[in-house]
Amino acid sequence: MDYEAERVSAEAAIAGADSLDALEALRVGYLGKAGSISALLKTLGGMSPDQRAADGPRIHALREGVSTALASRKAALEQAALDARLAAERIDLTLPAPQVPRGSVHPVSQVMDELAEIFADLGFAVATGPEIEDGWHNFTALNMPESHPARAMHDTFYFSDKTAEGEDVLLRTHTSPVQIRAMRATGGTQPLRIIAPGRVYRSDSDATHTPMFHQVEGLVIGEGIHLGHLKWTLETFLKAFFERDDIVLRLRPSYFPFTEPSVEVDVGYANSGGRRVVGGNGDDPGHGWMELLGSGMVNRHVLAAGGYDPDQWQGFAFGVGVDRLAMLKYGMNDLRAFFDGDVRWLGHYGFAALDVPTLSGGVGTVA
Ligand code: PHE
Repeated sequence: MDYEAERVSAEAAIAGADSLDALEALRVGYLGKAGSISALLKTLGGMSPDQRAADGPRIHALREGVSTALASRKAALEQAALDARLAAERIDLTLPAPQVPRGSVHPVSQVMDELAEIFADLGFAVATGPEIEDGWHNFTALNMPESHPARAMHDTFYFSDKTAEGEDVLLRTHTSPVQIRAMRATGGTQPLRIIAPGRVYRSDSDATHTPMFHQVEGLVIGEGIHLGHLKWTLETFLKAFFERDDIVLRLRPSYFPFTEPSVEVDVGYANSGGRRVVGGNGDDPGHGWMELLGSGMVNRHVLAAGGYDPDQWQGFAFGVGVDRLAMLKYGMNDLRAFFDGDVRWLGHYGFAALDVPTLSGGVGTVA
């Protein structure tokens, strides 16, 4: 057998293969299980030692030559295929990019930013506290001992655990426990001006109540603080927040265990096509009063629980629903929609990420 002629013709066939499939068919024909060169290799076993010594190297050389030719042709065909693909596939950089869905800032976050901004101008820092509270901070220190009826009125979510001190563990029902935490953090030695925005929880659910909602607490502690400071602060805050000067407040005597005296604050609004628009005197025709927030002078027991000497220090505190403030300012009417996570609602009522909170500027500072 002329192995050399066989090699030349195989190499010519391989060089002529015009596709990877055709090349693979050739490889199988030569080197596959039933391939012609594989068959030649099998004949070696039946040869005499002399013949094997003569033919063996030739058959192996044939196989080597064919393998090398197959590999180089394969590389050439693959390169050609890649070149063809690169030539055919083009990216049109002038096409508009696919739209990326844009997120928005939730109105509650926006309003909290606005509150932080307004109160920062008045010299208030932002304080926070845990949402999982203990009964002492949420109630007892706020002058609501275990037997206090107001405690039952809070529709509290309790955990089954107790603290190491045997206190109830609960979801805070208001932001007022942050008052206690902020006071105790100073050791009762310094004046204090904080707001504490955050989530609060009550077992209550209907069109105007959700089991989780948001409050912002305000607390000022100082020497010589009186009700006038409270009234001025609330008026200044609400004028800045609603961005109008005709905010009229009505202060009504009220009761909270943690403030004495306690003041419920109503704000005048105008009826405008079924919507309540904050502003104006609630007693004027076409107007009314709506309850907005609770406040008062910090109760002596609360000052003491916070580590302050009530004979030296006074303070005022207030608590407002943040969701309610957002609804009034931005005109939503269903509280539940706030927490549905509906992207259409968020797209409509949400704020662009770079929207700077309104206002600041024009607000005076506490003397
Ligand atoms: N914590 C009260 C509430 O949740 C609000 C309040 C805060 C009232 C501070 C007075 C002073 O209803």
